[in-house]
Amino acid sequence: MEKNITVIKGDGIGPEVVNEAIKVLDAVAKKYHHTFHYTDILMGGCSIDAYGVPLTDEAIATAQSGDAVLLGSIGGNTTTSPWYKLPPDHRPEAGLLKIRKALGLFANLRPAYLYPELAEACPLKESTSAKGFDMVIVRELTGGLYFGEHTTKEINGELVAHDNLVYSESEIRRIAKRGFEIAMKRRKKVTSVDKANVLDSSRLWRKVVSEVAQDYPEVEVENMLVDNAAMQLVKDPAQFDVVLTENMFGDILSDEASMVTGSIGMLASASLRADSFGMYEPSGGSAPDIAGKNIANPIAQILSAAMMLRYSFNMDEEADAIEAAIKQVIAEGYRTFDIYKEGNHKVSTSEMGDLIVNRL
Ligand code: NAD
Ligand code: IPM
Ligand code: MN
Repeated sequence: MEKNITVIKGDGIGPEVVNEAIKVLDAVAKKYHHTFHYTDILMGGCSIDAYGVPLTDEAIATAQSGDAVLLGSIGGNTTTSPWYKLPPDHRPEAGLLKIRKALGLFANLRPAYLYPELAEACPLKESTSAKGFDMVIVRELTGGLYFGEHTTKEINGELVAHDNLVYSESEIRRIAKRGFEIAMKRRKKVTSVDKANVLDSSRLWRKVVSEVAQDYPEVEVENMLVDNAAMQLVKDPAQFDVVLTENMFGDILSDEASMVTGSIGMLASASLRADSFGMYEPSGGSAPDIAGKNIANPIAQILSAAMMLRYSFNMDEEADAIEAAIKQVIAEGYRTFDIYKEGNHKVSTSEMGDLIVNRL
């Protein structure tokens, strides 16, 4: 098959880890006789430096014309980087939110899985990590607090900031359906996470989720408040199959879930809409603290590329091959610094990419 992939390397460790994912995609293309064409666009801080804006309309048009987007990560140190002196809608993150909205990517899947060989990298006590776990966070991605009106105004002599949280029934219904469809192919359990004891948007969320649930009688549904969910993720992650939640809660809980697997450098993500198009990015950020050192873990990026093959290109065998190669490299004891424990072989970003290519 021939596919056009729009590549956004982004900032910080983005280019380092995306290069490893492209190495792996090239090896897959060779082995399975596919042709992948890559078109680079700029987004985030690098686009601000080049064009004065975090994402140009031309870049969006390029992304729209391809078959999928492979994204590294964007942004800099939010305290020290000059990008954060710009107005909010000119900062790196505004580019990411703009492309998600422009491409209609409302469904964000973030699978968190504990490799048995990485149990020692899991910070939980042995009794919890020994059970293993395998969950997918289904995060609504184009609504909620992120896309409501944001204002800061002076009222009665002081500044007052306002972030509007809006959800419509149709926005909730389409992501809930996606969550239940995914659960039907897994262990048939949906944990819907909200804050229905405080928020109207959460009460609407719970109502719509229970309506959608009627169409999936085989799926067990549980409603959980987000503060409890944060605690349960650490206490007993094995209880979760599909975690269905709104934009902001999904952002926070997915970082938490990643650490329970050992490292944010392991957590892939896919941002999807109703058709096969998608944008594939690790869940973590540009990690300015370790950028440029060739030490970042590229596995989240490579797993995201595997998700692209599976969800956008229907290449299940190729995606399986990448995941198996990663499992093998981990089983052989190779680790980047973030998951390294004494007795492992410590490797760099590019060495990890090479090892995965060699095991394909
Ligand atoms: P971060 O995820 O970049 O880093 C948090 C911690 O995790 C750091 O210690 C970092 O070194 C570590 N880490 C992250 N990825 C790693 C990897 N692959 N291997 C090893 N360690 C890794 O979060 P942050 O520091 O809060 O944010 C930094 C910047 O990234 C901010 O500008 C933020 O807005 C941006 N960000 C972008 C995205 C994205 O582009 N999708 C996602 C999250 C954060
Ligand atoms: C993520 C990131 C983004 C988000 C930021 C960079 C806007 O944290 O993809 O998880 O909050 O969605
Ligand atoms: Mn996040």
